[in-house]
Amino acid sequence: MTAHHPAPATPRTPRGASSLEGRCFLSVLDFEPADLEHGLALSAAVKRDRPLGKEAPTSAALQGTYIALLFEKPSLRTRSTFEIAIRELGGNYIDPAADVALGKRESLADVGRSLERWVAGAVVRTYEQSRLRDLALATTSFRVINALSNEEHPCQALADCLTLQERWGDPRGRSVAFVGDGNNVATSLAQAAVMLGIHVRVASPDGFDLAPEVDADVARVARHGAELTRFRDPAAAVRGADAVYTDVWTSMGREAEAAVRRRLFAPYQVNDALMAHAAPDACFLHCLPAHRGEEVTDSVMDSPASVVFDQAENRLHTQKALLVMLFED
Ligand code: CP
Ligand code: NVA
Repeated sequence: MTAHHPAPATPRTPRGASSLEGRCFLSVLDFEPADLEHGLALSAAVKRDRPLGKEAPTSAALQGTYIALLFEKPSLRTRSTFEIAIRELGGNYIDPAADVALGKRESLADVGRSLERWVAGAVVRTYEQSRLRDLALATTSFRVINALSNEEHPCQALADCLTLQERWGDPRGRSVAFVGDGNNVATSLAQAAVMLGIHVRVASPDGFDLAPEVDADVARVARHGAELTRFRDPAAAVRGADAVYTDVWTSMGREAEAAVRRRLFAPYQVNDALMAHAAPDACFLHCLPAHRGEEVTDSVMDSPASVVFDQAENRLHTQKALLVMLFED
């Protein structure tokens, strides 16, 4: 480990909703497009420098910093990559049980006010997006990162954007078709992709569209003429697209609807026939976990077009960059 690479660009603190004073990452919309571009450049630098270990320029970025991991839904990728990221940046984490930290034992505000005396911030996976905001607003200096809510999954979108940039180089003018539930993953993907100039097409069954407010948000942050277009017909959405993305039909917390959803979403399966409508070199994305045989076939998941494990890897690098941006003074 003798090679030395230039240090990554000086981290910038993202400017978010004014009441949260830019200290939180609850939504992709807490980033300006320039913050997202900066975050992706920093992600690429920390990815390149990871083999340097302790010699990496960011290896002590979180020295002396404790962060709480608060998860009230299951997670493999998000939890693992935050644990590794915090350690590789020289920080520490605590992991209080969800039924204690996010249960009914005391208010979320009091949890935040207590944690704030010991740790610098929290990575939180929860249900309503409003719970993240409540936690952040009850505190003064606490940094809160959304590790998935019912409405948004912004950390996933960071990894998705890095993966697409790696695949395409300049992403401006490219297109991604999201096929399936207009859910948390679709929302954050749309918000982030348009900031990079990527056109977003979303095909969902009636009743499972992206939330109506996403159009206005996307129009506000879109750059380089990128647009969001909604479809019912998956083939129409995928036609000529440079990337095809899907996610589970039934998100965590919606399990009671699984049987109905399986029936309504069946025409939205991403299979070889659907992929044939995309551009010849189109890639396939999935945030994982995948339900093979439901929203995607084995043939697509395991095809050369599939970049799903690149996305999983990039969760680590993009979250390291995010932690540096939010926590390093
Ligand atoms: N994609 C994602 O968030 O995976 P986990 O639910 O395993 O964290
Ligand atoms: N939409 C899925 C994403 C899982 C990473 C869910 O919320 O369960």
